[in-house]
Amino acid sequence: MTQASRPRVRIKELLLAASPQAEVFIQGWVRTRRDSRDLSFLELNDGSCLANLQVVVPQAAGLEMVKDLTTGAAVAVFGDLVPSQGQGQKWELLAQRLTLVGPSGPDYPLQKKRHTDEYLREMAHLRPRTNKFGAIARLRGECSFAIHQFFHDRGFVYVHTPIITGSDCEGAGEMFQVTTLKDPASDPTYKTDFFGQYAALTVSGQLEAELLALALGRVYTFGPAFRAENSNTTRHAAEFWMIEPEVAFADLRDDMDLAEALIKSVVGFALRDCAEDLALFDKFVEPGLLARLRVLVESEYPRLPYAEAIRILAASGRKFEFPPVFGADLATEHERFLCEERFQGPVIVYDYPKTIKPFYMRLNDDGQTVAAMDLLVPKVGELVGGSQREERLDVLLERMKELGLSEDPYWWYLDSRRWGSTPHAGFGLGFERFLMTLTGIANIRDAIPFPRTPKSLAF
Ligand code: 4AD
Ligand code: MG
Repeated sequence: MTQASRPRVRIKELLLAASPQAEVFIQGWVRTRRDSRDLSFLELNDGSCLANLQVVVPQAAGLEMVKDLTTGAAVAVFGDLVPSQGQGQKWELLAQRLTLVGPSGPDYPLQKKRHTDEYLREMAHLRPRTNKFGAIARLRGECSFAIHQFFHDRGFVYVHTPIITGSDCEGAGEMFQVTTLKDPASDPTYKTDFFGQYAALTVSGQLEAELLALALGRVYTFGPAFRAENSNTTRHAAEFWMIEPEVAFADLRDDMDLAEALIKSVVGFALRDCAEDLALFDKFVEPGLLARLRVLVESEYPRLPYAEAIRILAASGRKFEFPPVFGADLATEHERFLCEERFQGPVIVYDYPKTIKPFYMRLNDDGQTVAAMDLLVPKVGELVGGSQREERLDVLLERMKELGLSEDPYWWYLDSRRWGSTPHAGFGLGFERFLMTLTGIANIRDAIPFPRTPKSLAF
C-alpha cells in the first residue's frame, strides 16, 4: 500500500485509542517544534479537536527535513502510535516518514504567543488555526447539528425561506436593498429593476415560516438574516444566523416552553459532547462559565410580565441611563440588571406594550399589550425574541391600519388568516448570541468566522 492510499485518521480518534497502533497516517499543521540532541518534537493539530498530537521524530536518514517544519507548516506524517514517554499526553506518534505539504516561514503571523481578539479580527483568514477560534468554529458546527437534532426529534420540518424578499417583517426599516439598476434613483417605482418591485435581503424568515406552519404544523428555519442597523455594538452584526421555529395550534406559553427547552437541550449537549472545547473558555475567557451553563440547563426560567419588569427596575433604586417607564423598550442595561442582579440567571419577559412591537404580534385582551416574549440571559441580554401571532383577520387589519401599513404587499400573509387560520406562535434565536452565551465571548465579531459590521467587509 502506498503512503497516500493509507487510511488517514484524525487526531481526535487517535487520542481516544485504546491500544497502540502501527502504521498510522495523519495530516495537519505544525503548532510548534522543539529539537533535542537526537530527537525533534512536533506539536501537530489537524482541527479535529483542541488537543495536539505530539510527533516524535528521531534524527534518522530521510527525516532531516524536520528542520523545515516551522510553525504553521502543513505536514503529513506516517508512523506508529505509541504510549507517550512525556508528561501530559497518553499517546504520541513515532514518525517513520514525513512529508512537507505546505511550507510556512518566520513571517507566519500566528507564532506561539497569545494574541488579542482585536489583532485576530484583522487575521480572520488565519484565526481558525488558533485554539480559541478553532474551538468556536467546532462549537458552531456541533451546536448547529444539535439544533437540527432537537427539532427533528420533535417532528419539526426544516424549511427554507427566501433570502431575497419584498417585505420588512420587523417593520424597522433596516433592510439592505437588492438591485441590479446602475442608478437605483432613476426608477423610484422599481418597475425596470430585476424583480419589477422593491427587493431587499430578509431580516427574518418568520412571515413565510408562518405560512408553512399553517400547512405542516411545526416548522423551523435556520438561516442567515441581514440588518442594516447602524449600531456598532458588541451584540449586533449586519449578517447573522437565526433559528426560527413556528408552531400551529400553539400559544405564548407553548412558545416560552419551546424556547426554554431548546436552550437547555443545546447547552446540555455542548456540556456533554463538547467538553474539551468548552473547558478552554472556562479557563481563559470566563472563569466559572461551566457553572453558569449548568444553571442554564438546570434552572426553571422565571417568567414575568413586562409591566412587572418595569416595576422591579423602577423600584431597584438603580440609576439607569434610560429611565424604566411603561411604554419604553427595555434597554440592554435593564435586561442585564434583571438577569445579572435581580434573578442571576435567564429570565423571560412577556406581554410587551403593542407600541414597541411589530404588527404581527397577537393583541391581548387589555388592548394595550401583545403576546410577545423575550428570553434574556446574563451578559448578552436578549437571546430570543418571539410571540404568539395575530391569527384574527379583523384584528390584524386594524393593527396594520394603526401602523400605517398598506395591505397590498401583505395580501398573501392576510390570506393565511382567511382560510383555516389557527392560533400559532414562534420565535427567533440569534445563533451568534447563543454562542456568546455558551462561550462567554464578549463580542459578536468573534462568534462568526467572517463578521459583517458597519464599515467592515474584509474577507
Ligand atoms: O427579536 P427579533 O428582531 O425577532 C424577529 O426577527 C422575529 N421575526 C423572530 C420570530 O418571532 N420568528 O430577532 C430575534 C433574535 C434576537 O433575539 C437576537 O438574538 C437576534 O435575533 N438578533 C441579532 N443577532 C445579531 N445581530 C443582530 N443585528 C440581531 N438582531 C436580532
Ligand atoms: Mg427582539
